[in-house]
Amino acid sequence: MILDKCVGKNLLLLLFTVLGNCESKRRWTYEFLYAEGFSDNEAKLKPDLRIQRVGRYQVGVSGTIDWQYDIDRTTMFELIIFQSPSGNLKEFRKLPFTIPKQIFINMRKYYDEIAMADARNCTNLPNFEGNVLLPWPRGLYVFDMCTADNGNYPDILAEGLYKFIFAFSGEVVWNVSFYVNIKTKIL
Ligand SMILES: *[C@@H]1O[C@H](CO)[C@@H](O)[C@H](O)[C@H]1NC(C)=O
Ligand SMILES: *[C@@H]1O[C@H](CO)[C@@H](O)[C@H](O)[C@H]1NC(C)=O
Repeated sequence: MILDKCVGKNLLLLLFTVLGNCESKRRWTYEFLYAEGFSDNEAKLKPDLRIQRVGRYQVGVSGTIDWQYDIDRTTMFELIIFQSPSGNLKEFRKLPFTIPKQIFINMRKYYDEIAMADARNCTNLPNFEGNVLLPWPRGLYVFDMCTADNGNYPDILAEGLYKFIFAFSGEVVWNVSFYVNIKTKIL
């Protein structure tokens, strides 16, 4: 098990981006390579995210998610992770640790304490006061150079190419995926 207790929460952040409150001494560096999104109904949910480079050093996730449907208890969320030690796409294998499929509106704790704690600076995703992520407003959600620089991911991650799939199902089946290259940091 290479994930610590902070990780489930923080992996969720790759969607929204950044950070958390757990102390971390990362032994790895990451590079966003590619982002892609799919939806079976773009009139209701259209993901349009990409990796943006600004100047020589700044890299982040930018784009939009056009959210035009109402979520409810049938809206499920799941995080799936694939990894390829060699970087070869053909060698992707599914990792056992993920966020298993669950009712999205009940994920307020993840969303609130972690995702929104620091993602505010790069997105206009909604805030909530109750215990559930309802009502989730329809809207055009914008992401502007979101990173994973401050997040509290596991201190140690195996090197390789990773694919993180943030998958929603229910009225609309849609997902966004990020391809990320992880390298061990030479200390
Ligand atoms: C991603 O969304 C597409 C379009 O709805 C769907 O065909 C595909 O099965 C989804 N993939 C995952 C892993 O959920
Ligand atoms: C968000 O922006 C504010 C104001 O620019 C800054 O003080 C804060 O450190 C930023 N937070 C993160 C997580 O980048």
